[in-house]
Amino acid sequence: MAQIDIVVGTVYGAAMLVAETLAAQLQQAGHECQIFDEAVLEDLDPSRFLLVITATTGQGDIPPNLQPFAAALADRAPYMKGWRYALIALGDSSYEHFCGAGRQLDGLLQELGARVLLPRLEIDATVDDEPEKVALAWLTGWENTL
Ligand SMILES: Cc1cc2nc3c(=O)[nH]c(=O)nc-3n(C[C@H](O)[C@H](O)[C@H](O)COP(=O)(O)O)c2cc1C
Repeated sequence: MAQIDIVVGTVYGAAMLVAETLAAQLQQAGHECQIFDEAVLEDLDPSRFLLVITATTGQGDIPPNLQPFAAALADRAPYMKGWRYALIALGDSSYEHFCGAGRQLDGLLQELGARVLLPRLEIDATVDDEPEKVALAWLTGWENTL
């Protein structure tokens, strides 16, 4: 069974609801999960699977609660070889920078050498008003490979 750190970027709570829904499913399947709503890079263990779930705010911006984590990645550019991750981006396609925060973080993690397990999931609030259900269906497709 896998050990999973879920790092959340949220303003209004939708990304946290997605995180809680997936954590419950993963725990039920026997995985060990912890959710970080104020993630600090140093607190994360590279041997654990990293699941990033982030909304976008402002104009393609990373939510404030995830900015220190993103800044640590960008400023210190740690070598992240050996890390494995997946990422869910919540956004709204009526904004110019759709899923800007998730796309930025995904790019950053890949530049740093982390290995993405499967393509980023993007959830558009104009299409899906229950992002946790979309995320759960996505998870069901690959949770057995963890
Ligand atoms: C003030 C504001 C700015 C936003 N800016 C963007 C944006 O630039 N790009 C995008 O894709 N979505 C944007 N969104 C949409 C949110 O990312 C989306 O509604 C998301 O589901 C919110 O998740 P949360 O409840 O976890 O904060 C914005 C929403 C608000 C309220």
